[in-house]
Amino acid sequence: MKIITEIAEMKEFSHNLKKAEKKISFVPTMGKLHDGHVKLIESAKRYGETVVSIFVNPLQFGQGEDFDKYPRDIKIDEKILSDLAVPVLFYPASDIVENTDTFIVNPEYSKKLEGLFRPSHFQGVLTIVMKLFCIVEPDFAFFGLKDYQQFALIKKMAEDFFLNVKIIPVETVREESGIAMSSRNTYLDGAGKETASAFYKILLTTSDLFKKGEKSAEKLTGFVIKELIKKGFKVDYVEITDSALNRKYSDAENGDILLAAIRYKGVRLIDNIFLS
Ligand code: PAF
Repeated sequence: MKIITEIAEMKEFSHNLKKAEKKISFVPTMGKLHDGHVKLIESAKRYGETVVSIFVNPLQFGQGEDFDKYPRDIKIDEKILSDLAVPVLFYPASDIVENTDTFIVNPEYSKKLEGLFRPSHFQGVLTIVMKLFCIVEPDFAFFGLKDYQQFALIKKMAEDFFLNVKIIPVETVREESGIAMSSRNTYLDGAGKETASAFYKILLTTSDLFKKGEKSAEKLTGFVIKELIKKGFKVDYVEITDSALNRKYSDAENGDILLAAIRYKGVRLIDNIFLS
């Protein structure tokens, strides 16, 4: 596997792929790779020459968040990527964000859901993803649905700026217990993981209630909040909205999404489920 650390070299590599009329499939990550990333990479490989990036982006961590302790293990990540026969790892240094004066913001979407609790987060995400897109120039880019709001914002950014990249969603991969895979799951010990597994089970039960005919968003989200609190979780938000994240409904409809964020033993977990 080729490891590229310089921006200029990555640009040249991509230009050469384009000259050879190859399609570029891109999976941006912050490393500490898990099966969720493996699924993104396997999807990407079906679309073209795959470039994976690893960069723990300081711009998307707020004051007091876990930038310093965010898990990093580049040697293991390199091994995972080589085993998956990924041809290129882009592993930039911090100069990719230093001295940045220009930021990408979506003021409307950034006020909702995650944005209410992490006010500068999406500005950081959109800015780094735009930078990476400008360097890698992918034809396809892959994002997990666990971070649904992130996926929706990046898709909107690509539309708003007429980018030549197709944003492709990839389904959430779960541990056997149902917990959505996340690099931050390493913050939970065994008992913590067992308790946290109730989070997705509650979402599943709620989607069953919807299937059985309960359409009131207020009742459905009320049920989720009550069950989460019973388990000892702190609830940041529970919302049902349409898939474009545009409106809160008084009645939930087929294809809507239920999104939630909780805190448990100082660890923040997010998850979602589509209602159908
Ligand atoms: O989902 C992530 O890991 C990050 O937010 C991303 C998209 C790599 C940007 O830093």
